[in-house]
Amino acid sequence: MSSRGRSPSVQEMLAYWERRAPSYYIEDPFGRAILRAFIEKLQPKSLIEIGCGNGELLSLYKNIPSAVAVDWSENMLQRANLRKARHFLPNLRLWRHDITQCAPHGQYDVAVTRTVLMHIPPDSIEKTVRHVVKCADNFLIFEYFENVPTEQLAAHNWLHDYVPLFEKEGCELVESYVRQDMPQVLFQFQKKPGVMADAKEA
Ligand SMILES: C[S@@+](CC[C@H](N)C(=O)[O-])C[C@H]1O[C@@H](n2cnc3c(N)ncnc32)[C@H](O)[C@@H]1O
Repeated sequence: MSSRGRSPSVQEMLAYWERRAPSYYIEDPFGRAILRAFIEKLQPKSLIEIGCGNGELLSLYKNIPSAVAVDWSENMLQRANLRKARHFLPNLRLWRHDITQCAPHGQYDVAVTRTVLMHIPPDSIEKTVRHVVKCADNFLIFEYFENVPTEQLAAHNWLHDYVPLFEKEGCELVESYVRQDMPQVLFQFQKKPGVMADAKEA
């Protein structure tokens, strides 16, 4: 839910992230530690991060045999590639992908998003969650969340109700970590047994 008027267009959103890339940085060691703990518990052999930005989380994937990170912004990906080289991550591949358009190629044990789905407008969130669900079995969805917004949201931010969105795609909530220091929740979902990988493709 954005508290402003019309949603920005797709072109405006992409242009926004291309512009943000050179200065984009979140210093959040606590958030990294939370995510690391969830990943270590799942022990994935393969993982995809959707909307990896400039690659701040990539070093968390060092010991995962097959890791992929995608983003729709060229400028973000350029920086993520530099980070891949700096951290020496031969197990990691990066490519350009718009998650609102379709599911990324491949099947992964775990899909991760951090502060990505909160930037998907309400009219695209259902199909976007469908695309996320299609590519993995477990999901670590680390997003802005509070029951009622305490502040007016910026034009490119939305509050989505992740539990019903993922349940609609055949997933169940396994665990969630509610941060006390900021309105952010890490939701761990898993696909319910018997949910076909491609049964729900639009
Ligand atoms: C707030 S940044 C978070 C980056 C990274 N997840 C992190 O935590 O450092 C949001 C990222 O989502 C990407 N993004 C937004 N919409 C996207 C889309 N439709 N498909 C793929 N990436 C998208 C943006 O380009 C940006 O890099």
